[in-house]
Amino acid sequence: MAKFRIAWLPGDGIGVEVMDATRIVLDRLDFDAEYIHGDIGWDSWCREGDAFPARTIELLGNVDAALFGAITSKPAKTAEAELVPGLRGTGLLYRSPIVRMRQLFDLYTCLRPIKAYPGNPLNFRDGIDLVVFRENTEDLYAGVEFAPVPQRLAETLSALSKNFAPFAGLAPDEYAISCKINTRKGSERIVRAAFDFAQKFGRKKVTVVHKANVVRATDGMFLEIAKEVAKGYPGVQLDDANIDAMTMWLLKNPFNYDVLVAPNLYGDIISDLCAQMVGGLGFGYSGNIGEKLAVFEPTHGSAPKYAGQNKVNPIATILAAKMMLEWLGEASRARALEEATAAVIAQGRVRTYDMGGSATTREMAEAIAAGL
Ligand code: NAI
Ligand code: MG
Repeated sequence: MAKFRIAWLPGDGIGVEVMDATRIVLDRLDFDAEYIHGDIGWDSWCREGDAFPARTIELLGNVDAALFGAITSKPAKTAEAELVPGLRGTGLLYRSPIVRMRQLFDLYTCLRPIKAYPGNPLNFRDGIDLVVFRENTEDLYAGVEFAPVPQRLAETLSALSKNFAPFAGLAPDEYAISCKINTRKGSERIVRAAFDFAQKFGRKKVTVVHKANVVRATDGMFLEIAKEVAKGYPGVQLDDANIDAMTMWLLKNPFNYDVLVAPNLYGDIISDLCAQMVGGLGFGYSGNIGEKLAVFEPTHGSAPKYAGQNKVNPIATILAAKMMLEWLGEASRARALEEATAAVIAQGRVRTYDMGGSATTREMAEAIAAGL
C-alpha cells in the first residue's frame, strides 16, 4: 500500500493540463502515493447538476491531502442553460465547489507563499519573500446574502441601526445585503496560524491587514484579537495596516513586509496583488488548510481561452505540489522540487508564453523533472 492517499482533482480547462504536467514531476520524485481521481467542476454540474458530487466529498474525507487544478464557473442563467436537458428546470442551483469545500472541511487557513525566484523576468522586484495567511471560511464570503431583502430583516435592521440607514423606505428589490460575519474563533485561529508560522520559520514580523477604523465591529474585533494573540509570541513583531493603504505600501516597499494575515476578502485582494509581484497567475499557488484535510491548488482558474493548447505555465501547480509535500512531512522531496523549479527559472532556457518564451506546459514540467 502506498504511504499517502492523494485526491487528484483536475477540474476543468487548463486544470487538466497543469495537473498532468505536475504528475510528471511527482512521478520523478518517487513520491509514494496513490492518486485517486475525483470529479469536480463544470462537467459534473452539466451532467449531474452538482459541481461537487457526493462521491468526491466522500473521497476527500478519506485521503491525506488533495491536489486541485481549476474549475470553470458561470452565472446562474448560463449554469441553468448548460445542464443536460433532463435536469433543466428542476430548480438546481449552482454553488461554487471551492467555497463549499472550504466550508465543509473547515479549511480555515488559505496560505499563499509569495516568492520572487531569481531570474524570473516577471518579478516586480527581486528578493520579494512574503507569506499571506487569509481566513478562508467566513467574513464577507460567509454566504449570508439577501436579494431581494426580506421585509422582516429590513424592519429589524431599521429598528436596530442607530446610524445612517440608506435602505430606509426602499422596496425589497431596490437593494441587496451581503453579511460580513467574523467570529472570535475564526479570527483567533487564523492569526494564531500566522504567528505559529512566523515563529517556526524565524520570520520577524506579522502584519494584520484590516479596515478597523471604519468597519469597527468585525475588523475592530479581528485587530483586537490579533493584539491579544501577539502577546504569546514575544519574538515576533506585530504590525498592522489598513487594506487600502496596504495595497499602496506593498508596491512601494515590499521588503517592509514578511507575514501578512487578513480576514477573507482583504486576504483575497492582497493575495492577488502579491502574486502579481512575483510573476502572476502562472506562479501563484495556495494551500487550503484545516485540522484534518488540506487542499493545494494554483490560484488561477480554468483559462478557457488556452484550454487544450498545452501552453500555460504549470509552475503554479508544481509549487502547489511542493507545498503539499511540505505539509505531508516530505521535506526533502519538497526542497528538491523547489530547487529544481528555481533552477529552471534561473537558467531561463525553458519559458512558457507568460514568461516571454515558447515552451509548452509539458516541456516546462519535463525540464523541471530532468533536474530532479
Ligand atoms: P483564469 O485564471 O482562468 O485566467 C485568466 C488569464 O490568466 C488567462 O486567460 C491567461 O491569460 C492567464 N493565465 C491563467 N493561468 C495561467 C497559467 N497557468 N499560465 C499562464 N497564464 C495563465 O481567470 P478567468 O479567465 O477570469 O476565469 C476563467 C474561469 O476560471 C472562470 O469560469 C472562473 O470562474 C474560473 N476561475 C476558477 C478559479 C479556481 O478554480 N480556483 C479561480 C479563478 C477563476
Ligand atoms: Mg482570488
